[in-house]
Amino acid sequence: MASRDQSLHSPLGLLAELTHRCPLGCPYCSNPLALEGRDGELDTATWARVFTEAAALGVLQVHLSGGEPGTRRDLVEIASSAREAGLYTNLITSGVGITTRTMRDLWEAGLDHVQVSIQDSDAVSSDHIAGYKGAFQRKHALAAEAVRLGLMLTINLVVHRANIGRIGAMVDLALALKASRIEIAHVQYYGWALKNRDALMPAREQVERAAVEVEELRRRHQGRIVIDAVVPDYHARFPKPCVGGWGRRSLNVTPSGKVLPCHAAETIPGLEFWNVRDHSLQDIWALSPAFGAFRGTDYLPEPCLSCERREIDFGGCRCQAFALTGDARATDPVCHKSPDHGLVARLAEIHADEPYHYRR
Ligand code: SF4
Ligand code: FES
Repeated sequence: MASRDQSLHSPLGLLAELTHRCPLGCPYCSNPLALEGRDGELDTATWARVFTEAAALGVLQVHLSGGEPGTRRDLVEIASSAREAGLYTNLITSGVGITTRTMRDLWEAGLDHVQVSIQDSDAVSSDHIAGYKGAFQRKHALAAEAVRLGLMLTINLVVHRANIGRIGAMVDLALALKASRIEIAHVQYYGWALKNRDALMPAREQVERAAVEVEELRRRHQGRIVIDAVVPDYHARFPKPCVGGWGRRSLNVTPSGKVLPCHAAETIPGLEFWNVRDHSLQDIWALSPAFGAFRGTDYLPEPCLSCERREIDFGGCRCQAFALTGDARATDPVCHKSPDHGLVARLAEIHADEPYHYRR
């Protein structure tokens, strides 16, 4: 057996993708192109073991996600086992598929935090983006119930060309729902979102206006709500330190038990992912080929190799580097120093008012 690297960091967060099943059809879905079916999903007891092993490995937070986690009949038992393992337990939900009764059971099971995704401040637009009539109203009701129970609430908003002009209205909505935080993320263009890139891509002027608006909203609502927002990749000067660095701070477990360094890692061909059915989480973190593939920064080419930001952004996102250049080891082309940066700049200028390809 290979020896463990003593300089390894401990992971802090575990994304538990309980299922790929989901009632919504968002055009920027981050699930993989090949969805895992219900028959292959890990059972309740295996998730409980994974959480115990995660806690022993140093993980502090678990995010129960999907797909829509509410499609799992054993969601309450799964949440309960995460709490029993001593993990801060966060539920990431579309708000569709979880009843107020289940929300109360989750609260009783010790759930700490809920994140509800809302696609827009306007009900008609929100339902159109989600591809599900009536979703907005159900999200609203579930978020209100979570707060009524005393759970911490974050509203998630994924921003793109159709809703980027209503960030202020979304913050108002989050305040009305008594959320403590709103997380404003821009679409990440890999997997399914690549099919809708031209339809989702905001114009540069929209992005610049939104950045000014976010600063103004932060000033206006300071102390009332935390507004988390980052500059969208295609319009940034530097890339983001994706997942805090590959194999450095987080891991993802897919519905069937494969353990990935990031949710999109399967878009990179040739990586070998180990499964929690066959290995302990400790061994997977320390020894599995996929986690070792891009750990650290020694493999990075120039201009990263001699760049002072190398230990800050780790050369950006491996999945994006692969999606845009065909080489997962390349400098993320979002970086203005990348030899491929011209490609990002060109793609950011392409917009098309065409219908969405919904995720079904
Ligand atoms: Fe980051 Fe590499 Fe760009 Fe430097 S050259 S900022 S390390 S992506
Ligand atoms: Fe995979 Fe960024 S999404 S490394």
